[in-house]
Amino acid sequence: MKERILVTGGTGYIGSHTVVELQNAGYEVVIVDNLSNSNADVVDNIEQVSGIRPAFEKLDCLDMAGLDAVFAKYQGIKAIIHFAASKAVGESVQKPLLYYRNNLGSLINLLELMPKHGVEGIVFSSSCTVYGQPDQLPVTEEAPIKKAESPYGNTKQINEEIIRDDVASGAPIQAILLRYFNPIGAHPSALLGELPNGVPQNLVPYLTQTAIGIREKLSVFGDDYNTPDGSCIRDFINVVDLAKAHVVAIGRMLEGKQAEKVEVFNIGTGRGVSVLELIHGFEKATGVKLNYQIVGRRAGDIEQVWANPERANKVLGWKAETSLEDTLRSAWNWQLKLRERGIQ
Ligand code: NAD
Ligand code: WQD
Repeated sequence: MKERILVTGGTGYIGSHTVVELQNAGYEVVIVDNLSNSNADVVDNIEQVSGIRPAFEKLDCLDMAGLDAVFAKYQGIKAIIHFAASKAVGESVQKPLLYYRNNLGSLINLLELMPKHGVEGIVFSSSCTVYGQPDQLPVTEEAPIKKAESPYGNTKQINEEIIRDDVASGAPIQAILLRYFNPIGAHPSALLGELPNGVPQNLVPYLTQTAIGIREKLSVFGDDYNTPDGSCIRDFINVVDLAKAHVVAIGRMLEGKQAEKVEVFNIGTGRGVSVLELIHGFEKATGVKLNYQIVGRRAGDIEQVWANPERANKVLGWKAETSLEDTLRSAWNWQLKLRERGIQ
């Protein structure tokens, strides 16, 4: 058994896939999640996929004493992967203080406790949202950080700065900031996936819910952008590929291979795919015809963004591997499984 890793938000969408990949790589995982956006039965599904039941503590990362007790109970935690956060862009505009409190407070608590418990490093879930609309594409990690479009996006920028400032002050820790592009898809077992709360705001959950008949029609937000087919362009990254990036980041950190105490990596495919291309790709991959209509632009949308993932490819030795077709099929299989289980 390799080192013990604390995964906050480990029953969530990206967290649950990452726990499985960590276990597959031999790490021992302790999950902390307050279940504000996930269910406890995800722990059962993780066990079913990996054959190993992770330790699970239902706890809010804002609860400093509770976190302290978790570190004391599970001695020797070597690193943290910090997924726990509120992540709905629209909701963050309505409830900014909730977002600032949750996303900043959780990180600060962890950073304060790390030295006390000898935790060496933290991998932080950042986002391509920090780039806004980049001046140059594909976007590299050196691109300037643009003013955030939402309180949610701002929490990612501030959290990156908090980590940098803490390390610069001499805190005995290392950090890896992973800037995810657009994670989509589900585990090939269809036992893990994204479980949106209420009406999905993100493209792929809305698309699969439309395909299965929960939603009548998918609205495509704009076909008058300055892109080849007029719809927005994103870098859609398979969630299992994304999960694997965390495992290599943890390995790099714990093997003392970091060149700097804070490293940042884009985690994307390097390929831009338009919203309309994605829709047609889904139809082709699954044979399911999608009911969609073009509507007006959505406020705050970035026209086009995709990653230059070369640094992650070269330095981490990580590369997105799964085809878009397989990824979209996995999202569809997950949606079918949800119906089978009577969930959605
Ligand atoms: P998710 O909502 O599925 O998972 C987050 C988990 O954290 C949930 O299980 C939730 O219950 C838990 N949580 C939230 N606040 C908590 C708290 N205070 N204490 C304990 N648990 C708490 O989201 P996800 O899509 O898996 O995202 C994981 C991380 O990746 C987030 O930090 C998110 O901002 C970031 N991210 C996500 C995307 C995306 O498109 N999904 C893109 C870039 C970055
Ligand atoms: C993708 C494209 C929409 C829904 C958001 C956050 C970002 C990051 C990932 C966390 C856009 C279009 C969508 C629909 C549509 N999260 N769309 N019809 O906006 O790229 O990024 O999630 O860090 O911070 O902002 O993702 O999936 O919402 O949209 O046409 O019903 O699909 O306009 O072009 P986005 P998304």
